[in-house]
Amino acid sequence: MNKDVIGVAGDHAGYEFKEQIKAYLEQKGFSVKDFGACQYDASDDYPVFASDMASAIAKGEYSRGVLFCGTGIGASIAANRHKGVRAALCFTPEMATLSRKHNNSNVVVLGARTLSVDSAKEILDAWLEGDFEGGRHQKRVELLDNLS
Ligand code: RB5
Repeated sequence: MNKDVIGVAGDHAGYEFKEQIKAYLEQKGFSVKDFGACQYDASDDYPVFASDMASAIAKGEYSRGVLFCGTGIGASIAANRHKGVRAALCFTPEMATLSRKHNNSNVVVLGARTLSVDSAKEILDAWLEGDFEGGRHQKRVELLDNLS
């Protein structure tokens, strides 16, 4: 498990955004595993990149990641089909904090067509700083992870 490595992935709509957020994470001292797309290609498909990263998290190879697509919706749907992946589509820092505290989110999803890069950085910072509260939320997260 690469605990200190953060996965990133996104389709063409999220490509430029991913590149900027990847640089931001690296500036902050994180190592980043890029699951693609590795270049802008308008014909690429978000389920492929989101699933590649989510699958690695589901297998325990990586502990957390950041996904991008135009709205964040498609990448969220794809990632959440992988057992053990709890991907949170966030529009505010508060949503990111609560997704860590209550849902123990291991993926944050950012919409490149719905957020500015600056607001995405604020959301990402809140998510990185957030901690799972456990307690009453533990059982709920277990219930989530036991859904087929
Ligand atoms: C691509 O045009 C767009 O549909 C995709 O990035 C995403 O927003 C889907 O949910």
